[in-house]
Amino acid sequence: MTTHQVERAGLRAAFDLFRGSLHQPPVSDRDWAQLSASFEPGAVRGAFDGDRLIAMHQSMPTDIVVPGGERAPLSVQFRFGVGAGHTRRGVGTALMAAALQATPEPLAMVRPSEGGIYGRFGFGVATRCRDLVIDRRRAVLTADVPSGGDTRLADPADSAGLCREVYDRTRARPGAIGRWPWYEQLLNHELASAGLFSRVAVHTGAEGPDGAAVPDGFARYSVRGTTLDVDELHCRTPESWAGLWRFLLGVELVDEIRLRGRPLDEPVEWLFTDPRVCRVTAVRDELWLRPVDTLAALRARAYGDGDPVVLGVHDPLLPANSGHYLVGPTEVRRTRRSAQLALSAASLASLYLGGVRPLALAVAGAVTVHDPKALPAADRLFHTDGEPWCGTAV
Ligand SMILES: CC(C)(COP(=O)(O)OP(=O)(O)OC[C@H]1O[C@@H](n2cnc3c(N)ncnc32)[C@H](O)[C@@H]1OP(=O)(O)O)[C@@H](O)C(=O)NCCC(=O)NCCS
Repeated sequence: MTTHQVERAGLRAAFDLFRGSLHQPPVSDRDWAQLSASFEPGAVRGAFDGDRLIAMHQSMPTDIVVPGGERAPLSVQFRFGVGAGHTRRGVGTALMAAALQATPEPLAMVRPSEGGIYGRFGFGVATRCRDLVIDRRRAVLTADVPSGGDTRLADPADSAGLCREVYDRTRARPGAIGRWPWYEQLLNHELASAGLFSRVAVHTGAEGPDGAAVPDGFARYSVRGTTLDVDELHCRTPESWAGLWRFLLGVELVDEIRLRGRPLDEPVEWLFTDPRVCRVTAVRDELWLRPVDTLAALRARAYGDGDPVVLGVHDPLLPANSGHYLVGPTEVRRTRRSAQLALSAASLASLYLGGVRPLALAVAGAVTVHDPKALPAADRLFHTDGEPWCGTAV
């Protein structure tokens, strides 16, 4: 078996192989016309048995907001599938190892189909999210909910561009990733394939440098029967968030509003006179992260105050990452000093955006404590205000 990049002429066959691994039929001509833009040259790697393609993997470069607010280069891994009859024979491992070794970005992420797949490849759960259902008929906003600005339906012809522009302006949370020009097209295509018609509501505030009104939030939604599904909601201010909620609650012929994959700390319950109109139906893992160049990844984020700690990182898939790292608020470097805390690449990834505390991972056995005073120090260093969240489905 060999692994190498798939030429442009082979991309559609590679996509069909991937779709087959998810038990989907080959792509139609119409769908390929919509989706081929998301297959950029050089991004697709295949595993071959002789000339025959038996597995595919795609990675796309972008960036991710890290604690402290900087944007670090990121490789997004997706469309990873092994053809029927070739699974569980080491093909996926070989392909993932080759793809990660060729990745120039210091961090990689994935949104997995199943939770049991990616831990062995050094990915750890870095953000989580929750699904909500709002009883729209009983939902009454409190008198304290902020107001201001204006919310209206976007013209469908402008909505993709508006969403892209507003999303980029609003993304500030650790875990938020940059999107590609084809992202909205892909999303609309998926909704249309499911027989859904999506609309975009846009909130406009008054906060441009010249005082002119600028869009500062949007919600993309579709209605099926009497259920309104919110596919995306991104906003920049409490006023834009509240304005979008007012709009959604005002949509006629709707009994319930469903939101999937929202930030864990989004205070939806506090909007309503009766907080029980908001039900949490699931809390799920969201973005899985992996350090590809551990030193560069550790240097990319900011840290809280406190004594530095020495982390011993273990990374069998990318052995160059294994080693000891001194991590402190003013310096991050490799060191020969003994490790105070030992952990896998996957556990480091889980700590990285602040989605879980070192203390909690130590309780679960995912961090080994050699020096007990290093644990509270690591807690202070890795602490972040607010929950990290991705909010982009890839
Ligand atoms: C997931 C997938 C790409 C893995 O490729 P693969 O060639 O089967 O994986 P490997 O043979 O290299 O397996 C490596 C290990 O992972 C395990 N593994 C593979 N798929 C797994 C799964 N879905 N859940 C749990 N473990 C899994 C294997 O059992 C093996 O374990 P071992 O080392 O203890 O024996 C492949 O099974 C597949 O195409 N699945 C369907 C499509 C899919 O879910 N893609 C992921 C999209 S995010």
